[in-house]
Amino acid sequence: MKRIEVKLGERSYPIIIGFGLLDRVGELAEELNLGDSVFLVSQIPIFSLYGQRCLESFNKKGFSARYSLFGESETDKSWESLQMVLSELARFDEPGRKRCFVATLGGGVVGDLGGFASAIYKRGISYIQIPTTLLSNVDAGVGGKCAINFCGIKNLVGAFHQPRAVLSDLSLLLTLPKREILSGMAEIVKYGVICDERFFAHIEDNFEKILLLEPQSLEYVVSSCYKMKADIVAADEMDTKGIRVILNFGHTIGHAIENILGLSHGEAISVGMVAASSIACHLGIFAKEEKDRLEELLKRIGLRTKIKSSSPEKIMEALLCDKKFAGKTRLVLPTRIGEVKVVEGVEELLIQSVIMGSNL
Ligand SMILES: NC(=O)c1ccc[n+]([C@@H]2O[C@H](COP(=O)([O-])OP(=O)(O)OC[C@H]3O[C@@H](n4cnc5c(N)ncnc54)[C@H](O)[C@@H]3O)[C@@H](O)[C@H]2O)c1
Repeated sequence: MKRIEVKLGERSYPIIIGFGLLDRVGELAEELNLGDSVFLVSQIPIFSLYGQRCLESFNKKGFSARYSLFGESETDKSWESLQMVLSELARFDEPGRKRCFVATLGGGVVGDLGGFASAIYKRGISYIQIPTTLLSNVDAGVGGKCAINFCGIKNLVGAFHQPRAVLSDLSLLLTLPKREILSGMAEIVKYGVICDERFFAHIEDNFEKILLLEPQSLEYVVSSCYKMKADIVAADEMDTKGIRVILNFGHTIGHAIENILGLSHGEAISVGMVAASSIACHLGIFAKEEKDRLEELLKRIGLRTKIKSSSPEKIMEALLCDKKFAGKTRLVLPTRIGEVKVVEGVEELLIQSVIMGSNL
């Protein structure tokens, strides 16, 4: 079992990583003195696999528990789902009940929606994250960003609300479909590009073991990513100092593609990273061999690196609506494997031609 601290002063919290930890979630909640009753937010397929075990662990430690399940796709990260979860939470948390906290059991969609519900319910209550996808185990589960999609725009309505703990039980990944494992791999590769060339090289040498969820490799890679994210979040919690923004490498273009083409988050980020690298090559700040090295790794992993879009205008439109991009045509671009920088004023025409595939 490994423990990593997200250092945020009074709001610091642990990330606990290991195998078979789900049965100890009640113990953890008791240690952290989170409250007396727990409201579990999840989705039907995940709850049917792990929900009862999770509830039993809470019940064993004397917590009263209730759960709320919402739809299982990205489009369910919606106002309607949020409203449903909040009204079930309000019914459970009746007057007279003692302190209630939220536990999210699921991938990034559950974590984002459940986290946001706990951010706004009674002006903020405690929550813990129990990530169940590879992606949420290396990225979404940590850092306190939570949001829903709104008016067709991804993560438009949200908040910063740090969890009190992240319980990362890697054995829950054994039921994850291959597509979702690939999706998480894209975020893992991202960490190598933005932070650490040696970590990138480690993935080049070991990605097959990670894909097979080989326990030692998995634990090493997940805890390395968590450590990188924890350090970035500690340095720039509110994303105002130009440090946390590097986590968006591949995401600005990726989100636009994800929205329009309905790709998985990771597939879209993979295409987005290659597109950003192509733009960086065109601007002369990133060597073509480095771009080829990244593209080659993504392909070997089995990720998509290009799209043939019949509607580049729609993608550009979605891009221009992105809250991090709009007004400034601002992108996170690589300068070498292991380092990225924010570049403002990137020509829209260049971005469009790259998206259309002519320059990929
Ligand atoms: N808050 C952040 O910092 C942050 C960072 C990155 C991504 N995100 C968000 O995360 C979301 C994507 O998250 P994701 O990739 O985890 O996808 P997801 O939450 O949609 O999960 C993918 C699918 O896998 C299923 N699933 C989850 N765990 C399972 C398991 N253990 N066994 C079997 N099936 C399982 C889910 O029901 C779902 O159908 C996006 O909405 C993205 O915006 C948030």
